[in-house]
Amino acid sequence: MNATADEIEVKMGAVSAVDLAKEREHAGTVGDITSPDPRMVCRDVNVWYDSNHAIRQVSLDIGRNEVIAMIGPSGCGKSTFLRCLNRMNDTIPSARVTGSIKLDGEEILDRGIDVVPLRARAGMVFQKPNPFPKSVYENVAYGPRIHGLTNSRDELDELVETSLRRAGLWDEVKDRLDAPGTGLSGGQQQRLCIARTIAVSPEVILMDEPCSALDPIATAIIEQLIDELREQYTIAIVTHSMQQAARVSQRTAYFHLGDLIEVGPTEQIFSKPRHKLTEDYITGRFG
Ligand SMILES: Nc1ncnc2c1ncn2[C@@H]1O[C@H](COP(=O)(O)OP(=O)(O)OP(=O)(O)O)[C@@H](O)[C@H]1O
Ligand SMILES: [Mg+2]
Repeated sequence: MNATADEIEVKMGAVSAVDLAKEREHAGTVGDITSPDPRMVCRDVNVWYDSNHAIRQVSLDIGRNEVIAMIGPSGCGKSTFLRCLNRMNDTIPSARVTGSIKLDGEEILDRGIDVVPLRARAGMVFQKPNPFPKSVYENVAYGPRIHGLTNSRDELDELVETSLRRAGLWDEVKDRLDAPGTGLSGGQQQRLCIARTIAVSPEVILMDEPCSALDPIATAIIEQLIDELREQYTIAIVTHSMQQAARVSQRTAYFHLGDLIEVGPTEQIFSKPRHKLTEDYITGRFG
């Protein structure tokens, strides 16, 4: 049950038609989809699962050293769009993706590209922490090993330590590096997964509701970490928590039924949304 463009048009109240015509260079999106220093450039991205058109003509830049939050009601396509950014939808047989997505200028939707290095460059952290059934050390060392990033055991040890330190986990696990990763607490497991992701020096970190299984203390630690990681990485985070989006992101993108409705500076989206659908969502009238 997707809203047609006309239905969405009718629901717009907050912005004048002239303003909208100027702004809506790209189908249906209010706000500036571009970034002055983009790391990822997505244009006219569509995703279908068989005949279900789950992402419609989405165009969006994701800037360097930026945290962009993706919000919207359940089923609006946030995870689907995030998965496009490192070709994870390839693992779903019914999924078909069209359009263009560039990472540092390189087209990643080309069938010919090797998705293994791509997924190291754009690493994903999932909702449910999913450490490998291996030791804490091996969870972090696995990626650097398969990508041949280190030349000696000493170098690997150092990379494991740095990654765990950057994920804010080192002090808690340094005495049990050989213990199973699955034996850590939920919040520690999620930080272990973040350490595993950053160990292979990604350019972009994709996070799909990374805190939804965590308590407020673990959530605060991860949010702090996201803020620190931004100095080095580009981060796209899907969240159902508007407080979290407001706390961690500089830009926010609002999705609705597969459309990217509005994108803008986080502060503006939460204080002065321009599209009626965004306003309804953030004020709790929808979803
Ligand atoms: N693996 C899949 N196979 C078929 N259809 C899918 C698959 N994943 C998602 N969909 C469909 O695509 C649409 C968007 O789903 P998606 O999971 O991207 O939404 P979402 O915004 O992440 O929702 P939520 O907030 O509940 O996680 C939905 O209609 C959903 O049923
Ligand atoms: Mg989702």
